[in-house]
Amino acid sequence: MFKNKKVLIVVSGSVSAYKSASLVRLLIKQGASTRVVMTKSAEEFIPSKTLSILSRYEVLTDLFSSYDREVVHIEWANWADYIFVVPATANIIGKIANGIADDAATATIMASKADKIIAPAMNDAMLNNAAVKRNLDIIKNDGWLIIDPEYGFLAEGYEANGRLQEPEKIIAEASIRLQAKLGKLKGKHIVITAGGTVEALDPVRYLTNRSSGKMGYALARAAVEAGCHVTLITTVDKEDIYGVTKIFVKSTQEMLDQSMIAFKHADIFIAAAAVSDFRPMTYVEHKIKKQDNYPLQLTLIQNPDILKTIGSIKNKNQIVVGFAAETQNIVSYGQNKLNQKNADMIIANDVSNSEIGFSSDDNSVTIISQKYSPKVVTKQSKIKIARIIIDSISEIVNTN
Ligand code: C5P
Repeated sequence: MFKNKKVLIVVSGSVSAYKSASLVRLLIKQGASTRVVMTKSAEEFIPSKTLSILSRYEVLTDLFSSYDREVVHIEWANWADYIFVVPATANIIGKIANGIADDAATATIMASKADKIIAPAMNDAMLNNAAVKRNLDIIKNDGWLIIDPEYGFLAEGYEANGRLQEPEKIIAEASIRLQAKLGKLKGKHIVITAGGTVEALDPVRYLTNRSSGKMGYALARAAVEAGCHVTLITTVDKEDIYGVTKIFVKSTQEMLDQSMIAFKHADIFIAAAAVSDFRPMTYVEHKIKKQDNYPLQLTLIQNPDILKTIGSIKNKNQIVVGFAAETQNIVSYGQNKLNQKNADMIIANDVSNSEIGFSSDDNSVTIISQKYSPKVVTKQSKIKIARIIIDSISEIVNTN
């Protein structure tokens, strides 16, 4: 995201100012050019020399500094593609919200048309102060991207909300949200199912499959990058992704119930879960005891088909996408599935290929849709495949 971009980091006076050093390093590692502006109080917490060495540029601290250039804060403001204010104190938030530009940091910010990201860090009482809340609302409405502080150990010696997010998280969240602003599916609500469903036999035993949920999570991430709000109905907890609301389920019936609720307000549904086709006919309340020399007979009944059910209730503006695991005749079987389940798109993968699939980080698929001719996507990482799938979905959505 920040490769070959010019990033200006504004550091204000919080004890967490030391984290700005890592932020600069991470941005440099991503291939960004960086410059740092510090407030006077930031200099109490971290030497400008540290940030100057890391950013590979002189640090601006004084509005009236005697650099050779004419009006240095205007030049820096024009130079920047992005401005990060990290950490941001209540004071600098107040100044930005109210148009005060009385030092190098705030004057540079005010003069810049760059995309702006701010990560507040302060004591929990200050964070809850009405004026701070009001000011954060103002800058949010002005188009600033706010990276909320997290709950954690504060400098005051107790745990509360107000801790600056770790620099890795700040960059990851900023990247995803900046990308989403330009996304092809901006503002769409997408529901994705993920993982293998779990069918209980008794309190300790269950039937399931080997799905890792990786493809569903990759799709969730790609959908957020494209600007979607995501509801992920999942049996596995893999990672937190900004913009993704996770709903945890176990059985197929639970997954269906949650899918039906979420689909009411959705634009797109992707069934990426590996759903158990069968479940035990009866759930046994107490642990089943073994009996000498007697085999245990299980009777399994068919589970509802979530994709088919959703396909049958979708309206003409809703897009439904399913997966198909095939070992042969991928395209023709995929096309049949498209019709049987009333889907708009089927992502078919060849499960006879042991290099891809369930727990693998890679996949290779054929995208089959009602609208376009089949598209073969060669073996690559699941996140890249997910981005191609989301891109293909956006073609359908935007021509619907
Ligand atoms: O019919 P088949 O299991 O091959 O279809 C696979 C697709 O249908 C996948 O998208 C899977 O998530 C979905 N499916 C479902 N409910 C089922 C079985 C499959 O949603 N009971």
